Amino acid sequence: MAVSLAGLSLPGPLIAAAGTFGYVREFEQVTDYRALGAIVTKSITAEPRDGNEPWRVVDLPAGMLNAIGLANVGVERFMAEKIPDVQHVRQNVRQHARQNARQNGGPVVIGSIAGHRIEEYAAVAAAFDGCEDLPAVELNVSCPNTATGRQFGDDPQQLAALLDAIRPVLASTAMFVKLSPGAPDIVAMAAAAVEHGADGLTLINTYPAMAIDVESRSFRISRGAGGLSGPAIHPIAVKMVHDVHRDVAGPAGVPIIGLGGVVKWQDAAEFILAGATAVGVGTGLFVDPNLPAAINRGLQRWARRQGVSRLEELRGALNT
Ligand SMILES: Cc1cc2nc3c(=O)[nH]c(=O)nc-3n(C[C@H](O)[C@H](O)[C@H](O)COP(=O)(O)O)c2cc1C
Repeated sequence: MAVSLAGLSLPGPLIAAAGTFGYVREFEQVTDYRALGAIVTKSITAEPRDGNEPWRVVDLPAGMLNAIGLANVGVERFMAEKIPDVQHVRQNVRQHARQNARQNGGPVVIGSIAGHRIEEYAAVAAAFDGCEDLPAVELNVSCPNTATGRQFGDDPQQLAALLDAIRPVLASTAMFVKLSPGAPDIVAMAAAAVEHGADGLTLINTYPAMAIDVESRSFRISRGAGGLSGPAIHPIAVKMVHDVHRDVAGPAGVPIIGLGGVVKWQDAAEFILAGATAVGVGTGLFVDPNLPAAINRGLQRWARRQGVSRLEELRGALNT
């Protein structure tokens, strides 16, 4: 089940998605971190942010709509208060694994970065680079919940300009770029990301969406529009992972984290067959924080039935 992702050794293929797992310790009382290959922190900005006014989250029949708006403590407090938590979490997993005579280096923690301007991304990237507890970062260029949050995620030239500025700042850190399903051409965005230094791609962020309460005739979340996640977006994400793997990431040897609507092992298996190296779980964690353990079990049995000894052998292994 171990996975090699852009030079990182993950104990398993499942990754807790940005913004759905707190900073890093919030799920400690409710789940076993040994089931996770990696954890992506919530997106961190240069300055602290309160995010949008409530309501910010709505439960919908096939997923959820959110407009959190990048609420976070800002990079300074993150480095001071949350990085020690990263060390704690990884040490705990190693210790538990040893007690059970197993090997598990603990989930790799990936720092997510967001911002409105290149300088803001650069400030957070500079703080993260060289921090050995964050061997990789994920650039969130696709958050639909801020006034300008998607400018870098919609236009290949804007993305190229951002990456040209950030890549040199991240001297010793793997750089993932997280793309938006709302981009006019996701393959073109992926190509720009790879050409300008991405070590990996995360596909996808939430899909721009809206819900209206018909009795009060008002938006169900304060901001009006938000991002849709959960099972509703899964088939969209599978196609995007497939197309990006076929046209860009596969030929370039750049790994993809498939993300969007994973609630059962078959969803994760679909991503792997479409070309993903690792699989993110977000909304599903709110329904069942122990979902990763269940998905791991399903994937393990599936790999056995498929006659492979390593899950990685099934990557992109579609019969077409
Ligand atoms: C409540 C909530 C908060 C999120 N916050 C972030 C965030 O801070 N940064 C980010 O890159 N993505 C964020 N996302 C997007 C998720 O990481 C993921 O891309 C998306 O939800 C699709 O996956 P899922 O269907 O498994 O939830 C958030 C999603 C939700 C539901």
